[in-house]
Amino acid sequence: MKQFIVETFADHRNLIVFLHVLSAVIWVGGMIAIRFATHQSLSLITDPKLRLERAAHTLKRLFGIVWPFVVILLVTAIFMAVGLGFRAAALDASGNVIDDYAMSLYNTVHIKEAIWLVMALNLGAMMFRRSKAEKALKLGNVDEAKKMLGVIAQYMVPVNIGLGVIAIFIGVVLRNAY
Ligand code: HEM
Repeated sequence: MKQFIVETFADHRNLIVFLHVLSAVIWVGGMIAIRFATHQSLSLITDPKLRLERAAHTLKRLFGIVWPFVVILLVTAIFMAVGLGFRAAALDASGNVIDDYAMSLYNTVHIKEAIWLVMALNLGAMMFRRSKAEKALKLGNVDEAKKMLGVIAQYMVPVNIGLGVIAIFIGVVLRNAY
């Protein structure tokens, strides 16, 4: 498996890095557009039920577009992390550190993995809350829908935007580190 990943990365390096960057653009850019453009525009709708219905629908569209790129981001990340040989440069076969600088880069890759995991779990939780809000709206329970969607806009999307920007910065650091 490792051999396959290393060879595939060597043969398609440009494509793999391109898909990784494109996925980050769509995921993080999509959230920024929703939070700072669409959200402000939707808040002008005075009827609360209609406003929440539009918000739930907009988020459904965004999440539908974004989740395949979340998967692509992880798959390309695995190809890059293994293909660029971070572990091999940092540790010997018995797991002893052979190069401190390479080890710091290897740890930085782990930080990106952790960021991806938190972002993906946060996205899953947002999808869950959004679908609960949609069900509540169908039953005419506007307060419940507001509770479900409000947390997404106030905290969950901003957290993922922040983490996404950090992950992009770390990506630039890794790219320029060797
Ligand atoms: C699963 C965890 C991740 C791993 C293991 C990972 C790994 C990497 C590596 C090794 C690079 C350097 C590529 C190179 O030198 O050619 C990179 C670049 C990049 N990563 Fe990630 N990444 C992960 C998650 C993410 C996430 C969550 C985002 C943003 C949402 C992201 C955005 C980027 C970007 C934009 C670059 C390009 C930086 C540049 O070209 O200067 N990555 N990533």
